[in-house]
Amino acid sequence: MGTRKKITVVGAGFYGSTTAQRLAEYDIFDTVVLTDIIEGKPAGLALDLNQSRPIEGFETKVVGVTTGPNGEGYEAIEGSDIVVITAGLPRKPGMSRMDLLEVNAKIVRQVSENVAKYAPNAVVIVVSNPLDEMTALTQQVTQFPRHRIVGQAGMLDTARFTNNVAEALAVPVASVKTLTLGSHGDTMVPVPSRCTVNGTPLTDLLPADKIEELVVRTRNGGAEVVALLKTGSAFYAPSAAAARMAKAIAEDAGAVLPVCAWVDGQYGISGVYLGVEAELGATGVRRVVETPLTEAELAALKEAAEAVRAKQSEVANL
Ligand SMILES: NC(=O)c1ccc[n+]([C@@H]2O[C@H](COP(=O)([O-])OP(=O)(O)OC[C@H]3O[C@@H](n4cnc5c(N)ncnc54)[C@H](O)[C@@H]3O)[C@@H](O)[C@H]2O)c1
Repeated sequence: MGTRKKITVVGAGFYGSTTAQRLAEYDIFDTVVLTDIIEGKPAGLALDLNQSRPIEGFETKVVGVTTGPNGEGYEAIEGSDIVVITAGLPRKPGMSRMDLLEVNAKIVRQVSENVAKYAPNAVVIVVSNPLDEMTALTQQVTQFPRHRIVGQAGMLDTARFTNNVAEALAVPVASVKTLTLGSHGDTMVPVPSRCTVNGTPLTDLLPADKIEELVVRTRNGGAEVVALLKTGSAFYAPSAAAARMAKAIAEDAGAVLPVCAWVDGQYGISGVYLGVEAELGATGVRRVVETPLTEAELAALKEAAEAVRAKQSEVANL
């Protein structure tokens, strides 16, 4: 048990609390620390999760801590190997993720300052939106090496693409492989050329217009959930994605996953956090993995890079 790791989830809203639950139920961590600025909420959720341990059968201890505006309470995250940042407002119907930029930048800046101070060796997984910009901001504020900051978006967008394909063809999700790159927004790049069903290219199974419908639904996957919920955004699939990334980092086995990572020359793109496939380990991103793309897909990825580059340079001033 002594070698099991400590992980912190900042923000005990829907995303953070379901992430903490998944991480605890994996039963691979020693401690999951859950924090929020709401008095009592993280402690209440932690107690509730700990009381589920005899039934679910996990030993991981969940600790809930309320943090204050001047960093009070952050001592609890000391020694964390991994920190997941979920603090921030979610979208309401009709909003784009970019509408959250200013308000969430203030929150993520405050959280990042405390992460840098209290967990200086952690690998950080960012999920707050707008994702690509908040990932860049976290690196700018913490000044951690770029490979130790990684954003969660591609895992989720890829899972949504896979689910859409499986539903359209009425096949098990396990038989479907898809990939989504680019930004977690309007310039998301679902990659049909990398999609297969039981090894058969998707392009052999569906006409181009049907594939395009699935691509569009994938790009709007988050908004579709927001429009139905009306009071918040998706959290089951998003938390599954962040928890899986944390597991890959904790296991240090070099799993290759679609994530938001610092791109430095791959695909002819440099100097930007962007959705790409990357090998994850205990040090964060071990390397970005390039995959063959069609000309149109590569052009779309380059377009996404320029769109997020412009926004990422703005966040330093927020
Ligand atoms: N990357 C993705 O794929 C993805 C997917 C879904 C949601 N999100 C984003 O995740 C974020 C959280 O979503 P949610 O559904 O959990 O929202 P939520 O409103 O349920 O929870 C957010 C929590 O953050 C807390 N918080 C605010 N300021 C804080 C601070 N300074 N320190 C600590 N905690 C603070 C709030 O008190 C609240 O409990 C949103 O920004 C949302 O847009 C990202």
